[in-house]
Order: sequence, then C-alpha cells, then structure tokens
Amino acid sequence: MKKELPGGYELDDSAARIDVAEVHSFLSTQTYWAKGRPYEIQERLVREANRVVGLYHENRQIGFARTVSDGVAIAYLADVYVLPEYRGRGFGAMIIRFSVEEGPFARMRWYLHTVDAHGLYKKFGFAPPSARALERQAPE
Ligand SMILES: CC(C)(COP(=O)(O)OP(=O)(O)OC[C@H]1O[C@@H](n2cnc3c(N)ncnc32)[C@H](O)[C@@H]1OP(=O)(O)O)[C@@H](O)C(=O)NCCC(=O)NCCS
Repeated sequence: MKKELPGGYELDDSAARIDVAEVHSFLSTQTYWAKGRPYEIQERLVREANRVVGLYHENRQIGFARTVSDGVAIAYLADVYVLPEYRGRGFGAMIIRFSVEEGPFARMRWYLHTVDAHGLYKKFGFAPPSARALERQAPE
C-alpha cells in the first residue's frame, strides 16, 4: 500500500523497500530507546514486524514506523521517527495516521511507549492506559 504525497514524498508499507542500514543508522545513534541496537536486531525487527511504514523523499528513506500485532485485536506502534531536517512539516503525523488509521489494524486497540511526543499521539486518540493495563519488564 502506497500513498503519494505532494513534493515527491511517499509513504509505503513495503518491507522490501525499507533501507535497513539507514533506519539502523538513525535509531541506533539518535534515539534514547534504541541507542546501540545491533544491526542484526534492527534487520530482524523489520523482518518480523506485521507492518513497516517508510517515508521517502525521492526514494531516500526519511522516516519510519514499525507495527507489531496479533492480527486480530491488538497492535503496537514502535520506532517512529522523522529525520531532523524534515520535522515540523506534518510528516510525523502522516506516518502515524498511515500506520494506525489507514492500514489493516485500524479497528484494533493500539499501544505504544514514549517519554515525549505525547501531544502528537494524543491527536490520534492515544492516552494514558486504563487501570486494567499492566506491563511486565523484560529481564535484564
Ligand atoms: C516525534 C517526531 C516523529 C515528530 O515528527 P514531525 O514530523 O516533526 O511531527 P509533525 O510535524 O507531524 O507534528 C505534528 C504535531 O505534533 C506536534 N509534535 C511534534 N513533535 C512533538 C513532540 N516531541 N512532543 C509534542 N508534540 C509534538 C507538533 O507540534 C505538531 O502539532 P500541530 O499539528 O498542532 O502543529 C519527530 O520529532 C522525531 O522523529 N523525533 C525523534 C524520535 C521520537 O522521539 N519519536 C517518538 C517516540 S516513538
């Protein structure tokens, strides 16, 4: 599923098109949550995802998001980013809308974790979890 945007930009959920080296280079150095993530792990996360969304400008990967789902009721959004030079122009919101509202998981309950950008996700209905939500940390 592809979505052409004005100005030579494009959203695409083809996993084969993801520039894993570019995604890894950004996430493993520029984010607090994936700092130091090995290349092989990033490659596997792309391969095992239920949907990966890329944002491209003239075929250069400039943004990304990854969705994991049980295929029925629950979806989880992770690794959302837009390269710094392209921020503040609505692309983050477009990646989230395309991932959450315009894909095969639109009818599901969504989860995500982030320390910042809560305001951005609120626009798409994300709010602090209900009292029923629990979380188990991964072992060290
Ligand atoms: C978060 C991120 C994806 C936003 O991308 P972006 O292209 O700049 O976002 P947009 O231009 O679509 O912004 C849409 C709206 O969200 C708001 N917003 C953007 N980043 C925000 C943040 N960090 N906190 C709160 N609100 C934010 C914008 O002000 C804008 O509001 P408006 O529509 O009222 O003007 C980008 O800043 C990024 O890659 N950050 C580093 C990675 C990261 O922190 N990811 C989130 C954790 S999963």
